Amino acid sequence: MSGPDFELLLRQAVEAARWAPSSHNCQPWRVTVIPGASENERLLCLTLDQGRRLTALESLDLEMALSVGLFFGLLVTALQRLGLACEWALCDANDPSPNGEILMAIVTVRRATAQVFGGADLDSFVDLGRRRRTCRTPFAPDPPPTEALAALSARRWPETVTGAALEIRTETDPKTLESLAKLTARYAALDFTHLRAWSETYRHLRFGEPGDEDVTDGIFIDSLLGPLTPFKRQLLRFALAPLVMQALRPFGVPSRMADALAGLVAAGPGLLCCSLPEERPRRQDLLQAGARLAEIWLNAQAAGLALHPVSVLLQHEAPRRELQRLLCLSGRPVFVARFGLALPNPSISPRRAVDALLHIT
Ligand SMILES: Cc1cc2nc3c(=O)[nH]c(=O)nc-3n(C[C@H](O)[C@H](O)[C@H](O)COP(=O)(O)O)c2cc1C
Repeated sequence: MSGPDFELLLRQAVEAARWAPSSHNCQPWRVTVIPGASENERLLCLTLDQGRRLTALESLDLEMALSVGLFFGLLVTALQRLGLACEWALCDANDPSPNGEILMAIVTVRRATAQVFGGADLDSFVDLGRRRRTCRTPFAPDPPPTEALAALSARRWPETVTGAALEIRTETDPKTLESLAKLTARYAALDFTHLRAWSETYRHLRFGEPGDEDVTDGIFIDSLLGPLTPFKRQLLRFALAPLVMQALRPFGVPSRMADALAGLVAAGPGLLCCSLPEERPRRQDLLQAGARLAEIWLNAQAAGLALHPVSVLLQHEAPRRELQRLLCLSGRPVFVARFGLALPNPSISPRRAVDALLHIT
């Protein structure tokens, strides 16, 4: 068959998907390509990379499924925009895991004879995905334009990819934001002083110069706190170390950090809350919810908005229930983020190279 090499097309799709956001930028995904029923078919096995998954809290299982779902959404959308036909089976938590790997999805990809490859549709999608960033600095206080808010939840991708279950709420009322900020202040310190959780977070912090090419995952400390001098970075490497954080507890350092996060929530201008109907969502529903989140995050980027997840509100049962009550949600909140107008200088966010996550057999 003429046209671009099949492997090259698959690599292009993975290149687009690898920019998916993930908790702590742990990138817990791996793709193994195996031959299909014909030379024009391949099976992509998407697994949760056991060595990369976050495990410090039970609720992180949900974040891992959402993160893989974000990658899955970008991957199949890229495959479709590359002109490849694909269908998939999403796996349940109870499905057997060959070689100890946790299988999340099997995507069957076919190329047809008369196909249009690439094009503007693909280019703008890839460009948007690469430019999208988490923004943790204060947003301009101006409320986002109504059209931008409406654009956030627009549906552009097929429902077969994103499912229909994820409920989206945007909250801009200052009083509600104030209540949510109080909740953040009350519970965020819990995370900063939870030895296991904070040790795992700390392992994902990078204290070198942002953009260092040897760094392929985790979060540069400058992306959390703004531009820093090399000296300040080294100081923070020490000050944020888990045992030091424990020692600083009596001096109120973790609670001051929690207050700073709460201040950002209170300042708004908005908060996005996504929920699923079930108290214990199935793996498949979380993967589709992750795909929908990828669509929403790109919608935000296209509308000039940036997101900053505040997952600490969801990682422990007490604040999650309180959030549910404050926002009168009937379902379980699975993703919460501040949002506002994107800033012109997005932070640097490293990624593993395509070859590190794609295995072609
Ligand atoms: C499910 C999920 C939860 C996240 N929770 C947080 C969070 O609580 N705080 C935060 O600062 N970033 C959070 N993030 C953002 C990630 O840290 C970010 O996506 C990752 O570092 C890559 O950076 P980028 O989004 O700028 O590419 C979360 C992302 C995902 C997908």
